[in-house]
Amino acid sequence: MSAIPVSDADLYTPGARADPYPIYRELRALGPVVHLSRYDLYALPRYHDVRAALMDWRTFSSARGVFVDPGMNAQLEGITLCSDPPEHTAMRAVLGRPLRQDRMRDITPTIEAEAERIVTELVDRGTFDAATELAEHLPMAVVSDLVGLPDRGRAKMLEWAAAMWDMQGPADERFEAAAPMVGEFMDYVAQEAVPGRIHPEGWATHLHQAADRGELAPDKCPALMLDYITPSLDTTILAITNTIALFARHPDQWDLLRADRSLIPHAINESLRLETPVPQFSRVLTEDHTIDGVPLPAGTRVALLYGSANRDERHYPDPERFDITRRPSDHLAFGRGEHVCVGMHLARLEMGTLLDRLADRVSRFDTITSTPLINNGLRGLEHLEVTVQTAGQRG
Ligand code: HEM
Repeated sequence: MSAIPVSDADLYTPGARADPYPIYRELRALGPVVHLSRYDLYALPRYHDVRAALMDWRTFSSARGVFVDPGMNAQLEGITLCSDPPEHTAMRAVLGRPLRQDRMRDITPTIEAEAERIVTELVDRGTFDAATELAEHLPMAVVSDLVGLPDRGRAKMLEWAAAMWDMQGPADERFEAAAPMVGEFMDYVAQEAVPGRIHPEGWATHLHQAADRGELAPDKCPALMLDYITPSLDTTILAITNTIALFARHPDQWDLLRADRSLIPHAINESLRLETPVPQFSRVLTEDHTIDGVPLPAGTRVALLYGSANRDERHYPDPERFDITRRPSDHLAFGRGEHVCVGMHLARLEMGTLLDRLADRVSRFDTITSTPLINNGLRGLEHLEVTVQTAGQRG
């Protein structure tokens, strides 16, 4: 039996939050399993092993939490993300109803109208922040109009959601600073996002109706409501911003997309592969298990490094190249298996509609400045100031 390589690399410094890729490369080279000594986590950095773990929920359980901090894992046990079948299956069935692929038709007109409005306004202006002015617009419109939350709290929603993500890392300064905001968010959900105050036709109301029909324990409603908010805002906002940043850096790829709109779904996958917004979750082994020849005992917490797996040179040739003709539909940015992102059709619809509208109008994006987001659970850009050239205009 070979010894498990140990690394004292810290994935939670500001530098590593902004650019974890050199560390990921080192970890992939060290072996299929690497002990991250600072956080006592066993990291899986390679594509094959992460995918295999995602497809085997019986061995790689989510029920003891999927984050880093033991306290946070204990506190969130039993939410959709942190549960196993059959409990998970029942919650996901209710939660996922409005997010099914066949339900996207119902909301496409709303998404298209909002995309048209924001793209027209910003492209006419010429210079804008692609993160805060463009990318935030659709996910926030969805939370307001489709989830149907009360107006009070809307202004704080992004801050609250980002704080939830900050608490997914180790108990460091960012984690501690986020705790009071998460408390405010919980109070809002418990006191304001309740029947009588939420929109009677919204997704949040449907959760309570499902509880009334006995499909769901009523005390699960607040947690499921959070599932429509926390994982839907920053993830999609970062994915949109990252995509614009990639096209600004690779104008040849933007030309390809403009010439052939059927490349849009592939461009979305390629962007998610290369700039994965949720770089990791974790699992706990339910029994002794051997990963690529490395034996690990039951109870081990393993970190599934989606961001590293998506750049694994063993799986994707020339992995750091942005190539929208690559068609990497097997990327792991949405996870896989039982917990595969339940909102992925919505995220794809939002991203695809925006890209389509932008392709109508914009011939070039030029980055003026960009600022990385430093968050314990997310990766991408907090600000991306761009100037656009419009079709017909020459730089
Ligand atoms: C580009 C945008 C998005 C990315 C990158 C993303 C990423 C992910 C990932 C990696 C997982 C897997 C969790 C695991 O392995 O344990 C996940 C699950 C989940 N996502 Fe997303 N997500 C996105 C958009 C959304 C949206 C728009 C929503 C909601 C409307 C959403 C709601 C959820 C929920 C509720 C889960 C938990 C599913 C379960 O445990 O069965 N996500 N997401």
